[in-house]
Amino acid sequence: METLNLKQILIPYAQAVEELKLKFKSIRYEYLSLDEYSPIEFVTGRVKKISSILDKANKKNIPLTQIEEKIEDIAGIRIMCQFEEDINKVIELVRNRHNKDLVIIEERDYITNMKASGYRSYHIIVSYPIQTAMGERIVLAEIQIRTLAMNFWATIEHSLRYKYKQNMPESIQERLNNAAQAAYKLDLEMAQIREEVLKAQKGFQTQSNTVGNIFANIHSLAKVLGEQEMNPIYEKFWKLWEEDSVEQMREFNVSLEELLREKR
Ligand code: GTP
Ligand code: MG
Repeated sequence: METLNLKQILIPYAQAVEELKLKFKSIRYEYLSLDEYSPIEFVTGRVKKISSILDKANKKNIPLTQIEEKIEDIAGIRIMCQFEEDINKVIELVRNRHNKDLVIIEERDYITNMKASGYRSYHIIVSYPIQTAMGERIVLAEIQIRTLAMNFWATIEHSLRYKYKQNMPESIQERLNNAAQAAYKLDLEMAQIREEVLKAQKGFQTQSNTVGNIFANIHSLAKVLGEQEMNPIYEKFWKLWEEDSVEQMREFNVSLEELLREKR
């Protein structure tokens, strides 16, 4: 092991990033293929560059032999959510995997406890086993969970901080603070909009439930009624379908249920 150079050390991290990215993307596809809302909007990941690892080791006085234990974000995964509320769902998804395919080492809630910089995100440090040609390697990974607004702010702040290093002009610092406030407000505003959207979706949901019930009832009726009796029912259904009236669909369904009761 001592003979491994830094580049070799990084190989399993690339695999950890790819695997974790795939796993969280798959959760998104799972929701979408069920026509359900996905709390995960998109996922990114990266392996920290060697120069950044060395910068961080230097800044934090980490001996080169302890880089793997002391630098937790060599493998970094970022999960973006539309709404703050979704972050809790994603946290639960990760917690449910504890002691399954990963182990949670630490959680850092910079959402309730915003950093002085204005940074907000939820961090989960995990250890993650990788099966390599030389056997199992366990690596640390940092999962950052944030809203689109939080990500927008953090991305820009990061590039500015990178540009100015320690000498961020006060005027820009102030604007960044204002922008952090604006991002926070945007998430609050979106939460309100989400409530409205959910209410509307609930209406849509009951409509599709009604259609589902109508299908089930027509299916049962077709077993006990003849074609002649069924035809007007089909016609009625398609007429209502074109009219797109939830109330009439519901009444139609009630009449189908009554008819079924009579025939049983
Ligand atoms: P570093 O901040 O990476 O030195 O590690 P740390 O041990 O202080 O951990 P911390 O949880 O503070 O930050 C880990 C990661 O969160 C960083 O690598 C960034 O990706 C992100 N982060 C933390 N603070 C900020 C910030 O003020 N601005 C931005 N843009 N990102 C931040
Ligand atoms: Mg830090």
